[in-house]
Amino acid sequence: MDINEITNKEQKIILAKIITDKVENGQTIGFGSGSTSYLTAIEIGKKVKEKKIKIKAIPTSQYIEDVCKEYGIEIGNLLENNIDWSFDGADEVDENNNMIKGMGKALFKEKLNILNSPKTYILVDNTKLVKKLGENHPIPIEVFPSALNYVSQELKKLGAVETTFKGMTENNNSIIHAKFNNITEKLEKQIKQITGVIESGLFIGYNVEVIKN
Ligand code: 5RP
Repeated sequence: MDINEITNKEQKIILAKIITDKVENGQTIGFGSGSTSYLTAIEIGKKVKEKKIKIKAIPTSQYIEDVCKEYGIEIGNLLENNIDWSFDGADEVDENNNMIKGMGKALFKEKLNILNSPKTYILVDNTKLVKKLGENHPIPIEVFPSALNYVSQELKKLGAVETTFKGMTENNNSIIHAKFNNITEKLEKQIKQITGVIESGLFIGYNVEVIKN
């Protein structure tokens, strides 16, 4: 990730510092992805080095894992470690804390971390707050590669007005961006039921605390 190309960097660094204050020796922390999480990982890394504390990270992407390693943070996994708490960014958050995430393609591991965390902080600058989900972003959906056509066809039956192939994930699956004009509460489950869908970037009703700046 190129740090010079991050938008709203000052706001994101303030959010990163709020999270860094919560880091204590011995904790296992879920690290999200995206530029806000990247800046947060760097701030946490600096604290770990300066204060000589030990934490374990459960990262959701390779570049976040790389930052952790650079600062000497141990890497754990969900099979052998229990997360104390997690942080992550989001692409859109509505007033009920429902979210679209995954424009950075890490949505599958991000959802796993949130589901495995007793507490998750979602860090958002004011460009992420929306009245209605889908205002500014499509829903990113991770799909088994050979299921692309079938999944696109089924997404259209659910109301997608446009589906676009957006490349591959770190898990070697495909990403589709699906534009919906009307995102209902049941849509996350409906998308998940399509054969070939690994996970969607729709997060409806998750246990998260949103920190805004
Ligand atoms: C990555 C994500 C990110 O959290 C989301 O895209 C927000 O990114 P940024 O902090 O760069 O705005 O879900 O898959």
